[in-house]
Amino acid sequence: MKAAYINQTGPPDVITYGDLPTPKPIRSQCLIKVAAVDVNPIDVYIRSGAIPANLSFPYIIGRDLAGTVIERGPKVTRFKVGDRVWATGQGAGDRSGTFSEMAVVDERWLHLTPANVSDEDVVAVSLVGITAHLGLLSHAKLKAGEVLFVNGGTGGVGSSVVQMARILGARVITTAGSDEKVGECRKLGAELALNYKTQDVDGAIRKFAPDGVNVWWESLREPNFERTIPLLSMRGRMVVMAGRDARPVFPVGPFYTKDCSLHGLAMFNATTEEQDAAAQDINRWMADGKLKARVDRILPLSKAAEAHRIQEESTIHKKSLLAGKIVLKP
Ligand SMILES: NC(=O)c1ccc[n+]([C@@H]2O[C@H](COP(=O)([O-])OP(=O)(O)OC[C@H]3O[C@@H](n4cnc5c(N)ncnc54)[C@H](OP(=O)(O)O)[C@@H]3O)[C@@H](O)[C@H]2O)c1
Repeated sequence: MKAAYINQTGPPDVITYGDLPTPKPIRSQCLIKVAAVDVNPIDVYIRSGAIPANLSFPYIIGRDLAGTVIERGPKVTRFKVGDRVWATGQGAGDRSGTFSEMAVVDERWLHLTPANVSDEDVVAVSLVGITAHLGLLSHAKLKAGEVLFVNGGTGGVGSSVVQMARILGARVITTAGSDEKVGECRKLGAELALNYKTQDVDGAIRKFAPDGVNVWWESLREPNFERTIPLLSMRGRMVVMAGRDARPVFPVGPFYTKDCSLHGLAMFNATTEEQDAAAQDINRWMADGKLKARVDRILPLSKAAEAHRIQEESTIHKKSLLAGKIVLKP
């Protein structure tokens, strides 16, 4: 089968597109004919070596996939041949990556794809959707009527946070780096969408939410607590989920005197049961048309190195090249 893989970490051109043996499903694994995969910033960190990971080479890159079950291991009970499924959380531990024509995935990681949702759309929501769900419901416990802020409303995580917060009945403030993207944020359901490059974001937040923001979703890798804590409401919650090397100043006084709380979130810590519970809501919301994928572009799998280059430029070097996910098709 064709696959995109690396034999060492390094820049995007360490990614090879070539032939690897087709895997055989054992125990409770399903063999999936892959229809779509996508790129996440964590793929870039792993491929570049920025995150020390215990990789065995050749290492097939990629976390997420959507496709169809074509063969079952002897212990599979929940899925049958022909089921359309999606998964995230692959390419870690003993789990193989997803950027290949075929992939084996243990059934614990699989979720059925709703009949009216495409493989491209469901894969674009997979990792970022589960992240948003865990952060909003399990961590921040967002309630209807509350005000939520998230940066980058057309980004991978940001676009899921905006839409899910709306589904949960919150009032959403978000930002984007161009007026065109600001318009997209409004279409996703943001009540207040601001251009962070040209507008006074903090002033607009204070005007919109004079009592403060109830949930601040910090998606930037350089959180600035001196700026954001004064914008939180009494009992405000903040979610931090990016910036492994960040060591910002933390103003304790203004934080504890408002009974605020801070929630660290790494979606890969969630159990498969927790992820599956989130996936059920995601499936229902996507099937109902309430949660939409933001696909920036679709490339052939052979362009995996180019996809990594674009994601790296956009997210890590802040070139704002993307408004959503890069999806690839074998
Ligand atoms: N902890 C977890 O479980 C978890 C899960 C998924 C992702 N992450 C991390 O979360 C971060 C975001 O991931 P992603 O997939 O959403 O990336 P992404 O699609 O590249 O989105 C990044 C967003 O940040 C916005 N942005 C950049 N600079 C900004 C600034 N100065 N002010 C306001 N907004 C700014 C961008 O807006 P414009 O494009 O409009 O400029 C873009 O929408 C990454 O660091 C990733 O590693 C963590």
